Amino acid sequence: MLPVAISSIILSGKGATMGLFSKDIKTMNDLFLHMLDDIYYAEQQIAKSLPDMMKKVSHPELRTGFETHLRETEIHVKRLEKVFEKLDVTANAVDCPAIDGILKEAKKIAGEVDDKSVLDAALIAAAQAVEYYEITRYGTLIVWAKDLGRDDVVGLLNTTLEEEKAADKKLTSIAEAKVNRRAA
Ligand SMILES: [Fe+2]
Ligand SMILES: [Fe+2]
Repeated sequence: MLPVAISSIILSGKGATMGLFSKDIKTMNDLFLHMLDDIYYAEQQIAKSLPDMMKKVSHPELRTGFETHLRETEIHVKRLEKVFEKLDVTANAVDCPAIDGILKEAKKIAGEVDDKSVLDAALIAAAQAVEYYEITRYGTLIVWAKDLGRDDVVGLLNTTLEEEKAADKKLTSIAEAKVNRRAA
């Protein structure tokens, strides 16, 4: 079952003005494929942005975390290509204004902070916004894949979802350690 809000967007056709949905999306399968294209684009943009974020980081553990997640993100792109292959459709990245906005904001805030420790905190916050975006997308994709009887791609999507959750947890623990150190 779809959340009510989403169902009403589909049924009312208002989606065409919302960017994510277009009039070409008629079925749940179309919507599923569109969201895969959307996250495919998002993962590529994240992979492009992480090296820049890494350059600005001071905290060594945070830098290592970004490095590790960059490698994972590159795998996420490849894993999505496997999903497209299994579904027998062509991977076709579509613009995703949501992730563009999150990454743009990350770049902007990082440009406005001088203090190294504050900058690290800003980068953690930005990275967590990215992870949450991915977590919500993969969570929905998994529900829809099951709904559409495409259990053959659920495992791949779930592996990535778990890595996004782990990345988020890691960021939280670095943020908490930073706060605790300051308090000590
Ligand atoms: Fe990812
Ligand atoms: Fe991620």
